[in-house]
Amino acid sequence: MKKQLIRAGIIGSGFAAKFHYEALMRVHSVEVDVVGVFSIDQPSLINFTASRNLKGFTILEELIEQCDILHVCTPPSTHESLVVKVLSADKHVIVEKPFTGYFGNGIKDFCGDTFKREIGLKHAKESSESMLNAEKESKGQIMYAENWIYAPAIQKEREVIEKTGAQILWIQAQQSHSGSHSLDYGQWCKSGGGSLIGKGCHPLAAAIYLKQVEGLTRNGHSIRPVTVSARTHAITRLPNYINLGNLRDTYKDVEDYASVHIVFEDGTIADIVASELLHGGVKNYVEVHANNHRTICNIAPNNAMQTYNPKEAYFDDVYVVEKTDTNQGWSFISPDEGWFNGYQHEMDAFYRTAAFGDPVESNSQLAADVTAAIYAAYVSAEQNGIEISL
Ligand SMILES: NC(=O)c1ccc[n+]([C@@H]2O[C@H](COP(=O)([O-])OP(=O)(O)OC[C@H]3O[C@@H](n4cnc5c(N)ncnc54)[C@H](O)[C@@H]3O)[C@@H](O)[C@H]2O)c1
Repeated sequence: MKKQLIRAGIIGSGFAAKFHYEALMRVHSVEVDVVGVFSIDQPSLINFTASRNLKGFTILEELIEQCDILHVCTPPSTHESLVVKVLSADKHVIVEKPFTGYFGNGIKDFCGDTFKREIGLKHAKESSESMLNAEKESKGQIMYAENWIYAPAIQKEREVIEKTGAQILWIQAQQSHSGSHSLDYGQWCKSGGGSLIGKGCHPLAAAIYLKQVEGLTRNGHSIRPVTVSARTHAITRLPNYINLGNLRDTYKDVEDYASVHIVFEDGTIADIVASELLHGGVKNYVEVHANNHRTICNIAPNNAMQTYNPKEAYFDDVYVVEKTDTNQGWSFISPDEGWFNGYQHEMDAFYRTAAFGDPVESNSQLAADVTAAIYAAYVSAEQNGIEISL
């Protein structure tokens, strides 16, 4: 049987655009035609499109017009306007994490270290609402590209919770590594914050999602987060930090460490850590302590494959794993990083929505809930960790 054809457009031509494109090559439920790419950076657009034999667009509206679904792979500060633009053309939109945030509203000399966090919370919520309202008016849907929701380990845990009726008592989860590669990251006005939003959004979304699964399974409704308490720190900006050059240290006005304690409406809890202070690759995990089981979802690293390489040069042409600075010695080499991260799974799910109307698992409401929890956590951190109601 001939597969349904869905026409795709990519906005942005950096890191995320690359893994979106690779994931699109592995969508199997429908036939995907990548119509083209739009980016504000011409050299990177040409580089991206030429090597993939794709068409570059200089007018965004033209790309939107020719597509059924658009991928927003641009810095967080641009998400809201791009999402609203795509939805107003009645097209579906896949938007990268973090959904949105507060970027200083164009205030001259805006400083992420000093602004009142309540203002950030208010604006971030308004930004989410503007996208959710645009979605209500549109024939298109928002698909929040939170790949952790679709990562095979998280989906397997979902099955365990659903089939055993588990009660989750406590979730521990973390994303940390040695620092983001994107130049926009590190400036609050572009990224909307530091580790808490840039990295914490993944484990936070997974925790909120799994409690949602639990609630829907046993009671028919989500178990939502009700309070957060958080601390944030800028360790690599401490005057006494001894910089040996092993961690990225170019953060201008954002934190490089965050921990968040969440209380859900049933009184159960989650503890989330996010940081840029971690050597040896990415640490992405979710540990679920339930009343009937304990699961550790090792998204990265995991020991599906371990390799010993006696000489760095042997692996000059071998990709090993994200964010390690040496390929020598033992490594948790990833046989298929995109698969463990859930990239192809999220794309296939989103394209099934576009083609067949399947419900969106990582939807705009989840994205808005995660955004609100993040900015409430910033309010808490501003007051050294007091409990804030969501
Ligand atoms: N889910 C994940 O695992 C993951 C990993 C990395 C990045 N991301 C997210 O992807 C998004 C992009 O990050 P990145 O690492 O690709 O950044 P990047 O800096 O590598 O690329 C950003 C691209 O967007 C383009 N751009 C900027 N503003 C634009 C605009 N208004 N219109 C069109 N193009 C524009 C830039 O020219 C560049 O090509 C961010 O939201 C980031 O948080 C997600």
